[in-house]
Amino acid sequence: MNPSQLPVWRDLQQHQRRLAAQSLARLFDAEPQRAQRWTREAAGVRADLSRDLIDESALASLLELARAMRVEEWRARLFNGEAINHTEQRPAWHTALRTPPADAATSAALAAERDRFLALAEQLRAGQIEGATGKTIDTVICFGIGGSDLGPRLVTEALGAPSGPKLHFVANIDPVELDAALAHANPGSTLLVAISKSFTTLETLANVRAALEWMRERALALDAARHLVAITSMPARARAFGVAAERVLTFPDWVGGRYSLWSACGFPIALAHGRARFEQLLAGAAAMDLHFATAPLADNLPVLLAALGVWYVNFCGLRARAVMPYAQRLRHLPGYLQQLEMESCGKSVDRDGAPLSYDTSPIVWGEVGTTAQHSVFQFLHQGTHACPVDFVTCAGFADSPIERERLLFMNALAQADALACGDRVLGAAQAKPAHAATHGGRPSTFITVPQLDARSLGALLALYEHRTFVQSVLWNINAFDQFGVEIGKQLLTQRLTR
Ligand code: F6P
Repeated sequence: MNPSQLPVWRDLQQHQRRLAAQSLARLFDAEPQRAQRWTREAAGVRADLSRDLIDESALASLLELARAMRVEEWRARLFNGEAINHTEQRPAWHTALRTPPADAATSAALAAERDRFLALAEQLRAGQIEGATGKTIDTVICFGIGGSDLGPRLVTEALGAPSGPKLHFVANIDPVELDAALAHANPGSTLLVAISKSFTTLETLANVRAALEWMRERALALDAARHLVAITSMPARARAFGVAAERVLTFPDWVGGRYSLWSACGFPIALAHGRARFEQLLAGAAAMDLHFATAPLADNLPVLLAALGVWYVNFCGLRARAVMPYAQRLRHLPGYLQQLEMESCGKSVDRDGAPLSYDTSPIVWGEVGTTAQHSVFQFLHQGTHACPVDFVTCAGFADSPIERERLLFMNALAQADALACGDRVLGAAQAKPAHAATHGGRPSTFITVPQLDARSLGALLALYEHRTFVQSVLWNINAFDQFGVEIGKQLLTQRLTR
């Protein structure tokens, strides 16, 4: 189904023309309770849509589009584990990792595999795992790239100071990252964890080989294989690589790489923060799953955010979206969302392989606030391209006993207001000269979690996953394959074998 052929598509174009003549400031004037009326909450995550360039009738048409594109049916197919990733003929069933599916056998298998990696994480945290020479493992290096790195790295850092063995992430094939991890490591007490869904990814395997070589060079007698753990959906490949069978942790191939932090790929999170917090992360995501699965479209946060995403790209012509986390611990959020959204929705054919006549994924980019205010915010306030912004922060900062946290929160609000209404919010009597004026009219969504804890984070990331999925449904594309990245890999193989 081509959404742009639907009558509601034309209605939305008209809404855009009508709203373009309005300003966000006028929408606030016309609706004094706008902030309250446009704030929705789900699983503890609150989204204030009042600074989005939207009104009731445009929203009604967006929801009509969602119904016409059968969002509710697709949602059911996602949760039922149907093969909605049709190009790879498999489900995209990451929700099963946190919301146990009705099928008892699948549910039990997932729980058993979860127990295996959580138990290993707990043993490592308790200093119960020894290397080949009897030394307690005190350093763990996690190798992975893309989805096998970004999510685990984001959550590990977002949950605050880690405890347990020293933990390093290595993604880049540039030796600098691995060298830094190895600089203070001792081969006898270091564990290498290779995280790769396919177990063929060149960067990951080349880095693991380099680390094994480092071990062998420094400790000749060391049985390096005993220092190796693999996390993969291709266990035979990991065993062929030399990983002992009992050290291969698995997850099903229907978990997409960028949706995999809830699986054994989340091992670094459990290692750094413990089993209980990992389970809270899953519980938060499950709460968002429940909301997404059951809330009517008009109150459904992932649906509302997805509808806004389509609104800005296809009707307002805004082809980028910034994500500005106002929390240092969320500094990896933009990178994680770039992969989630751009790898999922960066597509130009529909589900039947027909070329699209409309745009899909915006360019997602971002930087942590407040530092971003002193760099890219110039572009956001006065640049020629308007770019919607997701402000993501923690409601608890608003009344934190720490003054700088309160300032952080106030900064986020101040920026959102300035983008929306420009100089007018200052209430200044005198007009500014042209070069200094900011006119506002730049939309943003203000998203908060109550605290930066595991449960809230789980709900927040699940919200973004579902938002991405709903956008893909509205665009009639498959969000779960990524064939575009293959050509580079194929060309490299060609160069290597030339
Ligand atoms: O090259 C892109 C990609 O396939 C991503 O989709 C994936 O997250 C990443 O590489 C890593 O893949 P793997 O987990 O199989 O090593």
